[in-house]
Amino acid sequence: MLLSLLLLAPAVRAGAIVPRQATAPFDCGQVRVDSPNTTYSGFLAADLDTERRYVVTRTTSQKRLLTRFENNTLFTLNSNGKNPTFGATFGFYWDTPPGKPNFAASAQNYAYFNSVAAGKLGDKPANIAASINEAGTNPSTGGKRDHESESAIFYLDPASGEITSKWVNTDGSFVPAFFVINTQRRINISGNLTKYFQDWEGSPAKVFCSKPT
Ligand SMILES: *[C@@H]1O[C@H](CO)[C@@H](O)[C@H](O)[C@H]1NC(C)=O
Ligand SMILES: *[C@@H]1O[C@H](CO)[C@@H](O)[C@H](O)[C@H]1NC(C)=O
Ligand SMILES: *[C@@H]1O[C@H](CO)[C@@H](O)[C@H](O)[C@H]1NC(C)=O
Ligand SMILES: *[C@@H]1O[C@H](CO)[C@@H](O)[C@H](O)[C@H]1NC(C)=O
Repeated sequence: MLLSLLLLAPAVRAGAIVPRQATAPFDCGQVRVDSPNTTYSGFLAADLDTERRYVVTRTTSQKRLLTRFENNTLFTLNSNGKNPTFGATFGFYWDTPPGKPNFAASAQNYAYFNSVAAGKLGDKPANIAASINEAGTNPSTGGKRDHESESAIFYLDPASGEITSKWVNTDGSFVPAFFVINTQRRINISGNLTKYFQDWEGSPAKVFCSKPT
């Protein structure tokens, strides 16, 4: 009982978020991704794909990502990404443009996973030069390829090992975001899966640290 109390974080900003989460650094091990019918289940791969996105392994021989969880961030230990943190970047701005709350329970917006600089819990999205095509440009900055990115958006339930995510909008609001995987084994997060699946293919997914707690 005392141990489980110690593992619960104090609410960071009263009333804003009340996640159950590990406060101490946690060796997460390999990161398992489960899709409901197992078709797309696998592990996060250590190496980014040709478009510099994190993907889920297709074969058991593919090198798996190893991570350490600390301060709401997944630190990568064996990745070829240029930053040591696993983060999310907006690929495209759909319902709402850059600078507006991009994640909302009503929006179909999504972010994909890549290697981004470390932020702190509650930080507003940082702009990074993203690797993907020009369709993702931000018109408000004259079409530069800068995209909103986040890294300190993960929560770890120390009892189950489940990793969940909350995006922080530019207005400071925390929005629960859900994992999705598609046939290309790319993994994204969205604030509204119903809306997401009206437009995009794929399957909901759950994500877990493989290290037992
Ligand atoms: C996590 O946060 C604590 C407290 O702010 C800080 O001392 C520590 O350096 C942080 N760890 C990392 C890896 O940033
Ligand atoms: C999620 O999207 C669906 C489909 O557009 C919509 O009916 C529903 O109200 C949305 N959920 C929330 C919480 O806004
Ligand atoms: C995820 O994002 C990529 C773009 O980064 C997109 O090609 C893909 O269709 C999205 N959807 C899913 C389910 O992965
Ligand atoms: C598993 O789910 C995916 C996405 O929902 C679907 O495309 C696929 O046909 C399903 N496979 C089986 C074997 O049911």
